[in-house]
Amino acid sequence: MSSIVLFGPPGAGKGTQAERITTSTGLPQVSTGDMLRAAVKQQTPTGIEAKEYMEAGLLVPDSIIIDLIRDRIKLPDAQAGVMFDGFPRTIPQAEALAQITAVSHVIAIEVPDERIVDRICGRYSCGNCGSVYHETFNPVSNSGCECGDFIEKRRADDNKETVKSRLSAYHEQTSPLADWYDNKGIFHRVNGDRDINLISDDILLALKK
Ligand code: AP5
Repeated sequence: MSSIVLFGPPGAGKGTQAERITTSTGLPQVSTGDMLRAAVKQQTPTGIEAKEYMEAGLLVPDSIIIDLIRDRIKLPDAQAGVMFDGFPRTIPQAEALAQITAVSHVIAIEVPDERIVDRICGRYSCGNCGSVYHETFNPVSNSGCECGDFIEKRRADDNKETVKSRLSAYHEQTSPLADWYDNKGIFHRVNGDRDINLISDDILLALKK
């Protein structure tokens, strides 16, 4: 069993790429952001605790995240490995992950900060199937979402104020993980400031190394 990590700042395109390469890798996407949003919606104890951190653009405490991952990784579809999207985000999370499952590749999608605000503030998704779109860069087609039932949905934390905190959290708490994984020889950088298809091609190439 071996898993993949998609790593990068908020709005780098981790979710977009995970959605596209999941068929090629055969690994299910595990997004801690999606899991937390589901918990908030269901008003579970985890969701109630996580909500204020998420709305402020801060990282949710490691203990909550690690418990979520421990439970998720036990499910049958995770037995051959998973594609983590947005996890790990701190060194303690990466250390916990190393005890839970093997990671073969960490793919860093690199995008300059100045692009991030536009990407996040223009994002919307299909409320029916979860596909991610962008007002300018990746709009839903005139015929609607491929799922056939498009309902536009926006995230509560996708605004200019929260993006600043999310970027600060990334630079202070998450970016040190780049060196941590680089030292293990499994870290691959991909230029994420390009056409979405080119990025997917580069990720699939990196996964063959
Ligand atoms: P999470 O949901 O993980 O948010 P994030 O990391 O901030 O990442 P995003 O989902 O915003 O971006 P993305 O990289 O997936 O980009 P996307 O593909 O959508 O986390 C939310 C919150 O939950 C956190 O702030 C924190 O509070 C908490 N949390 C989650 N995990 C945690 C953890 N492990 N530890 C602690 N707390 C945690 O793309 C963005 C937009 O750009 C889209 O509109 C897309 O269409 C467009 N786009 C994508 N690629 C391109 C391209 N190449 N060119 C132009 N546009 C593009």
